[in-house]
Amino acid sequence: MFIGEGPGQDEDLQGRPFVGKAGELLDKMIVAIGLKRSEVYIANVVKCRPPDNRTPTAAEAQRCLGYLRRQIELIRPEVIVLLGKTPLQELLGISTGITRMRGQWQRLDMLGGIPVMPTFHPAYVLRQYTQDVRSAVWSDLKAAKGWLDTHPGKGATPP
Ligand code: URA
Repeated sequence: MFIGEGPGQDEDLQGRPFVGKAGELLDKMIVAIGLKRSEVYIANVVKCRPPDNRTPTAAEAQRCLGYLRRQIELIRPEVIVLLGKTPLQELLGISTGITRMRGQWQRLDMLGGIPVMPTFHPAYVLRQYTQDVRSAVWSDLKAAKGWLDTHPGKGATPP
């Protein structure tokens, strides 16, 4: 399962997460680790587009959190990749920046514990298209896929 921040303009128009430019990159990232978009579930912290694409406020995020947690309960993901700072802050309550936290396994205390890998948001990767940023995301996604491959079907047990 991948969790982003909130719908942008394209997502708002289509009613689906990650269908714009960031979504195109996310699709490529999913394929690069050997998965199909149909094999992953993609969600956002907030379900409505914040005005002017601003970052959702904590109050807005908290209002949508019950919805996101219900999505997690229904999907029962084997591993979750958090895209950027907002899901890290709002779902795990970690306010340390994504640059410091990415690549470090976390645990979501739901369904017995779900392994969580934070990484950079694809929109950030597009803005900051450097070798360092790209290889960081690649390494984080490979770690998440590695967990899936080494614990097939095991589900909710953190590393
Ligand atoms: N960015 C997000 O965080 N979510 C989307 O659905 C699209 C862009």
